[in-house]
Amino acid sequence: RPKLPQYNTIDDAVKLLRESKNVIVLTGAGISTSLGIPDFRSKDTGLYSRLEHLGLSDPQEVFDIHIFREDPSIFFSIAKEILPTEKKYSPTHGFIRLLQDKGKLLTNYTQNIDNIEANAGVLPEKMVQCHGSFATATCMKCKFKVSGDAIFSDIKDGTIPECTACQKSIAEDALKPQGLKRKRSANGQQKSRKDSDDSSDDEDYDIPTPGVMKPDITFFGEDLPDEFGRRLVHHDRELADLVIVIGTSLKVAPVAEVPGILPRNVPQIYISRTPVSHTGFDIDLLGDCDVVVSELCRRAGWDLQHHMIPAD
Ligand code: OAD
Ligand code: ZN
Repeated sequence: RPKLPQYNTIDDAVKLLRESKNVIVLTGAGISTSLGIPDFRSKDTGLYSRLEHLGLSDPQEVFDIHIFREDPSIFFSIAKEILPTEKKYSPTHGFIRLLQDKGKLLTNYTQNIDNIEANAGVLPEKMVQCHGSFATATCMKCKFKVSGDAIFSDIKDGTIPECTACQKSIAEDALKPQGLKRKRSANGQQKSRKDSDDSSDDEDYDIPTPGVMKPDITFFGEDLPDEFGRRLVHHDRELADLVIVIGTSLKVAPVAEVPGILPRNVPQIYISRTPVSHTGFDIDLLGDCDVVVSELCRRAGWDLQHHMIPAD
């Protein structure tokens, strides 16, 4: 993407902010690190650098749907580290809220699953949670859905949450005279002919197990919520007049492709500690994002202060 030559400095960014009417804000884990929530790829502090003890060939495997199906205990051994708990939010979340208050926020596409945008008062209709969230969880077997907090205590304990709907139907089946019992004896008979006195009979029985509840966060190998592509391509692409990317390494597709999908004449600002080389932004504002957005607001004459007070 060729750079737009007229935009270079922080004051150009301020001018763009003041003049824009439909801003896309694309965010990643970097906007929550000031709240003590780790990002993923920062050296030493990122979640992935702290997962060596799991013995995975690639730490991203903790969010791999195929690995999860095989062994959900890997994910649930670390899930508590990324579980949202507190009701606070960073100045950067406050900045997104401020854009909303000024009627300038087209959409906040967030890759974050911490739901902290909501703490800052960003409206659900102004936000796409590209990688889902902990707000709900779904049974891997029967697709039964529960509110996320129903499994929070399991997550905090590091145990694998099981589906209550599956448990219930298993219990009901077992009570039916024709149910579980018949299956068992049929299996048992078949097997006992081959190897008569094998004590590992249990394995022959088709004992049903309840499904595992998976938080509705998007794992590698899963599709993003439909709304992501629908809204971006069929709505926002036409309307956006400014793009601000904050606190993301842009390493994960398809979100990483968003800047490239937007029309070339729409200016793009990048705010993060670490520069990205694989896509060209018009203005790079490198540093702590809370500091950068505070300075942008100061220069724009916008009051970010009162938005830093946690909601309720
Ligand atoms: P990354 O950890 O890849 O990138 C975070 C970026 O934010 C890095 O460039 C940091 O330098 C920067 N950063 C950290 N703290 C900052 C601060 N206070 N101020 C400014 N910049 C800061 O996180 P994401 O790009 O969000 O997906 O990762 C994308 C996806 O990869 C995640 O949604 C997650 C992960 O695998 C799933 O779990 C499915
Ligand atoms: Zn189930």
